[in-house]
This record gives sequence, C-alpha cells and structure tokens, in this order.
Amino acid sequence: MWSNSIGKAFSVTCFGESHGPAVGVIIDGCPAGLQLNADDIQRLLAQRIPVEREVVSSRREPDMVEIFSGTFQDLTTGAPITLHIKNQDTRSADYDKMKDTVRPGHADYPAKVKYGGFSDYRGGGRLSGRMTAAFVAAGAVAKKLLTTFGVEVISYTHSIGGLHSEKSPSDNDVRELTYQNSMRCPDLTLADRMRDAVMQAKAEGDSLGGIVECRVNNLPVGVGEPLFDSIDAEIAKIIFGIPAVKGIEFGAGFESSKLKGSENNDQFILREGKIVTVTNNSGGVLGGMSTGMPLVFRTAFKPPSSIAKEQKTVNVSKMEESVIEVRGRHDPCVVPKAVPVVQAMVSICIADLMIRGGMIPRVLKS
Ligand SMILES: Cc1cc2nc3c(=O)[nH]c(=O)nc-3n(C[C@H](O)[C@H](O)[C@H](O)COP(=O)(O)O)c2cc1C
Repeated sequence: MWSNSIGKAFSVTCFGESHGPAVGVIIDGCPAGLQLNADDIQRLLAQRIPVEREVVSSRREPDMVEIFSGTFQDLTTGAPITLHIKNQDTRSADYDKMKDTVRPGHADYPAKVKYGGFSDYRGGGRLSGRMTAAFVAAGAVAKKLLTTFGVEVISYTHSIGGLHSEKSPSDNDVRELTYQNSMRCPDLTLADRMRDAVMQAKAEGDSLGGIVECRVNNLPVGVGEPLFDSIDAEIAKIIFGIPAVKGIEFGAGFESSKLKGSENNDQFILREGKIVTVTNNSGGVLGGMSTGMPLVFRTAFKPPSSIAKEQKTVNVSKMEESVIEVRGRHDPCVVPKAVPVVQAMVSICIADLMIRGGMIPRVLKS
C-alpha cells in the first residue's frame, strides 16, 4: 500500500506523519567506521529552515535529531542507524474543518479514496513537506560518507516565480553565498528580488514555485547501474519522492531538444592527463553512468497549494460542492527549504550507487 524505503545497498526507510509524535528514518547499509554524531546531521537540518521566518511557514520546530542506534563512540557500526526527530509544533485543530473538504493541489483526495478514509489528513499526514526533515537527516549521513570519498554535493535556488540569473553561479559562490540569504540564492541581488516576489505573493494570499539546481562534483566515472538503475533514473526516482516536485532535467535538459548534434555533443579532450569534455550538456551522465564531469540537474517545484484565496472544492462526505480558503501556517514558496532537501536526496542515491558499484567499501579504513 505504501512504499517507504529507497536504495538497495544504502537503504533508507522513513516513518512518521506531519502531526504524529515524530518523523524519522532507519538507514540500513551504512558502512562501518564512518565518524558520525548528531551535530553532523543537525548542521544540514538547520539549513532547511531559513533564519528569516516570514518567508516560510510559521510552524516552529527545533528539529533536534536523536541517534537511537547504529553508532558507538561516534563511529557507525554497520548496524541500522535510527534517526528520530520529534514534532513539536503541531496545531491539528487547524485541519478539523478540512477533514472532508479536500484541499486543491494536495494529496487529500486520492489519499482518502486509496486508504479508505483511514489516512492521517492532519497537515497532509505522511504526504507532507514535514517528511523532508527526515529525508535531510538521512541525507546528512550519506553526504558525510560521500565527503570522505571526495564527492561534493552542492545546491542552490536557481529561480523563483520565473526570476533567474542568465549567468550560472560558480561552485565557490554556491558554497559561500547560498546560505547567506533566506532565498538560498548565491546571487544576492537576485535573492532580494526573489524575496520581494515571495512576500508579495504571500500578501496576496498566493504562492510561488521555482527551480533548485544541484551539482555533484568529483564523482568517479561509471556510477550508475544501467539499464534500469542508471544514475539519472535513480536520481529522478528519489527526487520525485519530495512533495511538490514537478520536473527534473539533467545538463541542457529540455533545451537539448532544440540543439543540433554538433551543438549538443560534449567533445572529449585531455587536461592534465585527465579525460574531460569541453561542454557539459549531458549534465555529467552518459548511458546512465557518471562521466566524471560534474553531475548537474535541476528540479522544478510547483507553487505550494495552501493559499488563502478562495478555491472551489468538494465535500466528499456530503458530495456537495463547496469553497475553501486554506488559512494557517504555510510556506509561500517551498524552494528555499527544498535546497538542502534536494542535496540530501541525491546524496542518499549516490551513496547507494557507489556502494553497489564497489566504489565505497562496507568497512571504512580507520
Ligand atoms: C519542504 C517542503 C515544504 C512544504 N510546505 C508546504 C506548505 O507549507 N504548504 C503547501 O501547500 N505545500 C507544501 N509543500 C508541498 C506539499 O507537501 C505537496 O504539494 C503536497 O503534499 C502534494 O504533493 P504533490 O505536490 O507532490 O502532488 C511542501 C513541500 C516541501 C518539499
């Protein structure tokens, strides 16, 4: 009925609901000998919530992670790692009125039909952005593992409400500037414009979508298991596990359909004894395997559906048409929160594929 686990060698099973006591994950298959404590995870979790609270939901939670199993003396043991995050700021009464009146753009209607009315509807229940706190915790472990093998995962807000920069930011700008503003955009002038647009949408009782770009640097050649567990297919699958994702493109993506082969091909050259390509339209993927060039992909997020404007809906118990205004505590744009979420999800995926490919051993050298 539900599909709660992802990954074959580094597998992550998530549990919890938006308004239940907690959310969390069990990671099975993390190699033994990785240095890990709660602070490592807490750092990435903190990035999920922008300091400037106006631009996100007013639900306030410290998102303190607890490690319940799988480490001993700050090192992973190879046993399952259980990560637990308490939900501390639920206001479930906000959802009583919406029990039967399904919210447009949310999973309420198909979930009610599919699970016979038993699914937890409060705040979207299991189908809520809140689950991404658990994903980020798991991703922090995967990211730490990848870092020990020299693989870097970075991400930033590429666009919000159609506002974007013509120039792609350097990796250094992404590293240094992304978390200096609440929009998670390394172009600080653009970040101000994005913020104004988000605040304006919020004031109008509306919301905005946008795009997160993610880059994975220093990947070895050949990560990915063609045909069906190719690196791009596996990334797409895990990324679509994030609520509100509507699209993903690698490298030149949809634009490549407009190019000629001569324009789109990434020609091979030698640089300091290494095979590299002149361009990277493939986004670092050929035949479902990493090429050794940066893996680059962009994820499109829809505008959040909980808006204060009046919308048509149906009371499914009474089978009567109705109207709804979703007041309460909601993100006017999920993109800033999604920046570390995308990073976390791709880290889980790459860690899994690198273990499967024999590039990360089951026991790390001390
Ligand atoms: C980090 C994060 C936070 C979210 N917060 C909200 C929110 O406050 N309000 C809202 O309407 N949707 C929010 N969403 C999106 C909904 O959870 C999502 O649209 C809904 O579950 C339906 O799923 P779907 O859009 O994938 O079809 C959030 C998504 C993410 C990734």
